[in-house]
Amino acid sequence: MTRMDLRGKTALITGSTGKIGRFLAETLAQEGVQCLCQYHRQDRLANKLVQDIRRRGGRAFAFRTDFRDAAQIRRLFQEAQRYGPIDILIHSAGLFEKTPLKNCTEQQIEDLIRLNLTVPLFLTRLFVKSRPSYGRKRPFAKVLFFADIGAFRPWRDYSVYCAAKAGLTAATRSLAKELAPGITVNAIAPGIVEGTIRNRKEAAERQARIPLGRFVPVKDLMEAVLFLLKTDSMTGEVLAIDGGAVL
Ligand SMILES: NC(=O)c1ccc[n+]([C@@H]2O[C@H](COP(=O)([O-])OP(=O)(O)OC[C@H]3O[C@@H](n4cnc5c(N)ncnc54)[C@H](OP(=O)(O)O)[C@@H]3O)[C@@H](O)[C@H]2O)c1
Repeated sequence: MTRMDLRGKTALITGSTGKIGRFLAETLAQEGVQCLCQYHRQDRLANKLVQDIRRRGGRAFAFRTDFRDAAQIRRLFQEAQRYGPIDILIHSAGLFEKTPLKNCTEQQIEDLIRLNLTVPLFLTRLFVKSRPSYGRKRPFAKVLFFADIGAFRPWRDYSVYCAAKAGLTAATRSLAKELAPGITVNAIAPGIVEGTIRNRKEAAERQARIPLGRFVPVKDLMEAVLFLLKTDSMTGEVLAIDGGAVL
């Protein structure tokens, strides 16, 4: 099995101020990856993240972007490329909202589809255009999306989010074929990640319904991320890491 050596590579990580995103940047920086960290509102957290990485000897830069604006997406990509060709694209930014159709707005539907499905396609398009030699024989660049087990086992009142994530899993498989053999495209579909549900009673009830009886530790997600980025033998995979919740 061939493996990508991550050291010296450059990754664009969206949603780097999120519960998962901040660990993505730290984990990749520890592997010697230069991290280009997109965020939206949390300036202080983004700056602290890049400062912490630099203090440990890594390379990281923060980019403020509102993905609801297509011009800002293009600008992010242009600015990010100043730090070298992007080898790894990780889309972790997302929006999670309950949208019972009777009560939700058209804008909510637009935003949920946009953040969870349209933006990863826009970014992958820019990524591919920036790496025209993607027809090379062996993987030299990687795309990793964050889906959700709601794509496979949708919940009531979350039709828009679940539809967007289901679309993202379909895009993962289709793009894997389109971009092979030079670029691999995989996704992780997490179950509920530790720390996401703050209400203790609700957390206990939810955990009781998961076969392995616990939420997903971020550390386990990071191990999967590194595996999917390093291996040159998988593409089009949507890996559920969920304690069996999807069963
Ligand atoms: N946490 C879970 O239990 C879980 C479970 C299954 C799937 N997932 C998926 O995993 C991914 C990461 O989850 P997470 O829990 O880390 O998410 P999160 O904590 O909600 O973070 C969302 C990220 O997206 C950014 N963002 C939000 N709106 C934006 C906009 N309009 N423009 C640009 N960026 C925007 C946020 O930036 P700011 O914070 O700077 O505003 C933040 O960095 C998501 O795709 C999510 O759907 C998560």
